[in-house]
Amino acid sequence: MITYNQETQIFKLDTKTTSYVMGIADGKYLGHAYYGKKLDSTDLFYLLRTEEHPFVPSRLEREKLSFLDSFPMEYPFGGTGDFRESCIEIRNMQGQHGLELVYAGHRIYEGKGKLEGLPATWGDHCETLEITLEDACAGIRAVLSYSVFADCDALMRSVKIENTGSEPVYLERVLSACLEMDQEPFEILSLPGSWARERQIHRQPLVTGSFVTESVRGESSHQDHPFLAVLSEDCTQTRGEVYAMHFVYSGNFLAKAQCTQYGTLRMVLGIHPDRFCWKLDAGGSFQAPEAVLVYSDEGLGKMSRTFHDLYRSHLIRGSYKDKERPVLINNWEATYFDFNTDKLIAIAREAAKLGIEMLVMDDGWFGCRENDDSSLGDWTVNEQKLPGGLKVLADEVNRLGMKFGIWLEPEMISPDSRLYQEHPDWALQFQGRAPSLARQQLVLDLSRPEVADAIYDSISRVLQSAHIEYVKWDMNRALADIGSMAFPPDRQGELTHRYMLAVYRMQERLITDFPDLLLENCSSGGGRFDPGMLYYSPQIWCSDDTDAIERLQIQEGTQLLYPLSAIGAHVSDCPNHIVGRVTPFQTRGITALAGTFGYELDITKISEEERKMVPGQIAAYKKYAPLIREGDYYRIASYRENHLYDCYEIVSKDKRQAAVFFVQVLYEPGRRSRNIRLQGLDEQMFYEVDGRRYTGGTLMHAGLLRNRLRGDFQAEVIDIQAVF
Ligand code: GLA
Repeated sequence: MITYNQETQIFKLDTKTTSYVMGIADGKYLGHAYYGKKLDSTDLFYLLRTEEHPFVPSRLEREKLSFLDSFPMEYPFGGTGDFRESCIEIRNMQGQHGLELVYAGHRIYEGKGKLEGLPATWGDHCETLEITLEDACAGIRAVLSYSVFADCDALMRSVKIENTGSEPVYLERVLSACLEMDQEPFEILSLPGSWARERQIHRQPLVTGSFVTESVRGESSHQDHPFLAVLSEDCTQTRGEVYAMHFVYSGNFLAKAQCTQYGTLRMVLGIHPDRFCWKLDAGGSFQAPEAVLVYSDEGLGKMSRTFHDLYRSHLIRGSYKDKERPVLINNWEATYFDFNTDKLIAIAREAAKLGIEMLVMDDGWFGCRENDDSSLGDWTVNEQKLPGGLKVLADEVNRLGMKFGIWLEPEMISPDSRLYQEHPDWALQFQGRAPSLARQQLVLDLSRPEVADAIYDSISRVLQSAHIEYVKWDMNRALADIGSMAFPPDRQGELTHRYMLAVYRMQERLITDFPDLLLENCSSGGGRFDPGMLYYSPQIWCSDDTDAIERLQIQEGTQLLYPLSAIGAHVSDCPNHIVGRVTPFQTRGITALAGTFGYELDITKISEEERKMVPGQIAAYKKYAPLIREGDYYRIASYRENHLYDCYEIVSKDKRQAAVFFVQVLYEPGRRSRNIRLQGLDEQMFYEVDGRRYTGGTLMHAGLLRNRLRGDFQAEVIDIQAVF
């Protein structure tokens, strides 16, 4: 619910349990008054502190500069007196910077518009507030947009910049969100990582200065995540305050928390300004991506559940949105590039017998690709490996009762390819300098529509050539040498964002033209696991690291924000190909339940004992898939914190069913049974666990006793059913 009180000049946006409050000071400046637990009152103007004196010892009346430098600006602009982190920076044709955006009007309406060309939340029972700020002198208008869904505790923000002047300007910075609050003993939570070690939960005190997390790699990246949260020091899974921001975007981002001289904190999030410069012609506009804000006064658990609900109901789309995903087997770790139709059919035959539902043929089926040195861009079948083409293989896989899917890497070009011979200028590059190769490949300049269209047409032909029901869309290197052979010098700064818009456009075409296709995004594992990608693909490959123990922390970090139904998780072979660790097959199966379940191994080569376990693992996946897809997530224990075990729980929305997923990493001798205190159950309801009855209250407050599992790397699923 959104209201505007004309008398107090206060905007108030209420979600189920939060309020977000802004006010207009002096009829001009839009200030941020409050974000937190839901408030009844709208008499909140005092929070803007406009009556406080202006911090200049010699003068007591208000001067503009000191006012701008201390006012809690809702959408901060720099260059005229606010020296803190700014959200917008414009360079005019005279080469000057500096803005003064003042309130010019607003409207409140039902529903939520689309963000042109960008991923964004969608859905009914939504209200939107648009506030227009204007700088008449600079000829710039900023339309701030805020939306709230009736069924969700999150708040969505974005901004559109319009050039109302008569000359072009250069937009050098346009961030999507800002949040101001008083500084307390806060901690910062971020999700740094690396390849094969994505989204590691990291907390650190924020005492002074600034904290920055960012990507300038052209993708949201393995190294950082477009997310930032400020936590009260006492914050746990179940208590304490959280102010979180998450970016619905897959390219360069900047998230920053800045402590100011006046004891306040400013948090900002948006497209990274480094190497970004968008030429805005007279009359033109620029739409910045959406940011999601979540406040929780019940710790990180409530924050996670809010993000999960929002993304499940209002971000993920398509025919698989609420549907069970097929159990797949992917041949990457089974064969790498060394496969042919016979090998794949042998895998499919064995897989089908055990109940696996889809074969995914990974990298190496096209051009003359025998390793990662060549052929990206040549999206035609390698008939030496696959005689008769994809149709023969797909038909045979279908005959075995399985679906068939393929791997694609549409954004790339190998210098050793037909495509490169024909169009060397299609790769991103600086004229006269040899570009930096990564994995022997270059990035296509998708900002050129003719390049994106040609690639789209070639992959679309592939998808029409056979019955292909799944695509893994990969992206295996960061963007460097960001120069386009087609763009004028004053538009080269638009490239990385234009690149992202082109990827979004291609994926939108793909899911429109092939509405039943299951699309899974991937970027060398989880290098582009972000809400932007989730708008196009209901699942994303979480990490190339498939080791059951490494996965505990990668998945915990991912689950912090993403519903489990979006997390690609597979059982792979041992010793694990990345870390060399050996873990029991059963543990690998239970770890992979925390996502879209599948196998990443040569099923014809694993031991008979392991093969026999596959049908049971699939049955467990089928049993828990609806609960995992729709239920509420509770993190009970973190291996990252306790160095011994990992434990999370899923509870159905009606609280009648729950399951606890437990992995004991290390066995500890000389201990009594382990007490697991459950969460999220109905206090009064009776539940049965292993034939014994408890009330929900007993399980949550007194706990459930479990005998220690014998040995390291052991796992179990504990089934909890309500009884009446
Ligand atoms: C990336 C993916 C892997 C696999 C390879 C193929 O690394 O993350 O799963 O598809 O590419 O080259």
